Amino acid sequence: MESSIQARVVSQRVEAERAAAQEIAELVRSRRASGRSTCLGLATGSSQIGVYRELARLYREGLDLSGIVTFNLDEYAGVRPAHPASCRAFMTAHFLRHVNVRPENVYFPGEEGEGTSPAAFEARIRDAGGIDLQLLGIGRNGHIAFNEPGSAPDSRTRRVTLAEATRLDAAPSFANEGRVPTHAVTMGIATILEAARIRLLAFGASKAAAVHCALHAAPGSETPASYLHLHSDVVFWLDPEAAADLARSPSP
Ligand code: GLP
Repeated sequence: MESSIQARVVSQRVEAERAAAQEIAELVRSRRASGRSTCLGLATGSSQIGVYRELARLYREGLDLSGIVTFNLDEYAGVRPAHPASCRAFMTAHFLRHVNVRPENVYFPGEEGEGTSPAAFEARIRDAGGIDLQLLGIGRNGHIAFNEPGSAPDSRTRRVTLAEATRLDAAPSFANEGRVPTHAVTMGIATILEAARIRLLAFGASKAAAVHCALHAAPGSETPASYLHLHSDVVFWLDPEAAADLARSPSP
């Protein structure tokens, strides 16, 4: 099928990271100028690190992030926030400790405590006015957040079983695959599709097949990222390696 998703291929990933961070900064500034806060959907994963690095640089140059509210896509089940492989620890190390986002405005699904059950998490997003911009990565198996193959388009924040490929990819952070949690809590496909804008970053040859399927397959549960065709404002930022399969025939 013809895609409404814009695929932007850059020669160096840093160009994509800067562009994504710049778009976020402009959004925060323009909403602030009209007295509104910005609600960001954030993602973990190596593809996002450069965006956070750039946002931290912009913060040091004067970008005020004290008014933003952030919702992360997912968290491992049964992993304490202080665990070095938790999504929260990732966000603290790469973003939160470098900027002035207020701790009380930072939400992860599935964490213990008030307001973090799947239903409460969704309610918080609604109360915050909905997500203005959602950052995404993509798994080698085409997952977005932890919506693994088989996920339904109307899925919402929930506990899920992690795919074997996902657990393998996470093994280095947990010392070995045996220690990778079997479950996680993730925003659902429908939750993600409600964001006003969606920006996905994918770099490297290991993502080429998933990117190709996401862009060329009809929306379906086999490649959850293909559901992004159902949204009207999605950009995929790709390096040449991640875009390598796009010249192939449209149907995988
Ligand atoms: C994890 C996250 C996904 C992310 C993926 C890709 O599985 N739950 O949201 O897209 O990692 O990670 P990376 O950016 O390291 O390739």
